[in-house]
Amino acid sequence: MKYSKINGTGHAVPRQIYTNDDLAKIVDTNDEWIVSRTGIKQRHISTDETTTDLAYNAALKAIEASSVTLNDIEMVIVATVTPDHAFPGVSNLLQKRLGLDEIPTFDINAACSGFIYALNIADKMILSSAYNHILIIGAETLTRLTDWSDRNTCVLFGDGAGAMVISKSETPGIKDIIVGSRSDDEGHLICDSPALKNPYENKISQQDHIHMNGREVFKFATRVMPSTIVNLLERNNMHKDDIDYVVAHQANKRIIEKASKDVGIPMDKMYVNIQNYGNTSAASVPIAIDEAIRKGKLKPGDTFVTVAFGGGFTYGGALIKL
Ligand code: UT7
Repeated sequence: MKYSKINGTGHAVPRQIYTNDDLAKIVDTNDEWIVSRTGIKQRHISTDETTTDLAYNAALKAIEASSVTLNDIEMVIVATVTPDHAFPGVSNLLQKRLGLDEIPTFDINAACSGFIYALNIADKMILSSAYNHILIIGAETLTRLTDWSDRNTCVLFGDGAGAMVISKSETPGIKDIIVGSRSDDEGHLICDSPALKNPYENKISQQDHIHMNGREVFKFATRVMPSTIVNLLERNNMHKDDIDYVVAHQANKRIIEKASKDVGIPMDKMYVNIQNYGNTSAASVPIAIDEAIRKGKLKPGDTFVTVAFGGGFTYGGALIKL
């Protein structure tokens, strides 16, 4: 029997921090509302670091924490809804910067659930025996898509990246496949995404910005997070007490609290770092997992559930032993 495993994690966030008080200078909001309704106290916002920059820094940390070197990486998957360009992908730009060979590199878009989707692809690729070591990254500069005059959404999001090296086990699967990439970092074939922007200037992108029906998303999230955790446990004949930790997508502390209550897993087993980062979309889960590992909250041998939901009304979860 063959398995894949987490073999190193890392994360990176932009230098600039915007507190709730900073945002109160831009829109009609206040620290009390934001903290009580979301749990967010501050977020990192990029005005000069691209999604690829953040992904690169997170990737280097994940490689450093793993047992492999960049030469061992056979595939790169980046989950993002905010690539530097519509194409080439962040993964493709990273390929050149990381000095990788002509391995397959591609981006996926499953909104805030994107990292779990990437984890699923990497896992199945490794179970197929075609690959041994895959670098997966969730990276976003979602604040590019923010309308800084809309208090309903602009207080929620932040930028960042989290990376993981997913490594092998054994046994057959796909017998033959040819894929490759060559890194077009000079932009020979390119389509732009919205530019980075300064919240105080709020140049609303011609390519539009985030629109959200918060209550509908909240309802979806509070239904799907508990049911995904419970399904994972049931499918694996496990009890909630067998779980050391739950690392959920950090969209709203109240959503995490509701999942904790519904599943019956106490809040001290639910990892929460939304106060420092806000909602970083596809980066949220890998940033939280990396932070939990580095803080010693998640230790080798621990079993944890990670779970996410997001745009498109995607969702996903994974049961993982470290
Ligand atoms: O990754 C997935 C992405 N999205 C989510 O997960 C979002 C899920 N939804 C949520 O987290 C919550 O619905 C929000 C945090 C977005 C909103 O919380 P809420 O408790 O559902 O508030 P609400 O939208 O019902 O608004 C309550 C009040 C409104 O005022 P009125 O109409 O009652 O006078 C809003 O205008 O709060 C007002 N409000 C604000 N006040 C101060 C909305 N945003 C703000 C703000 N500051 N930033």
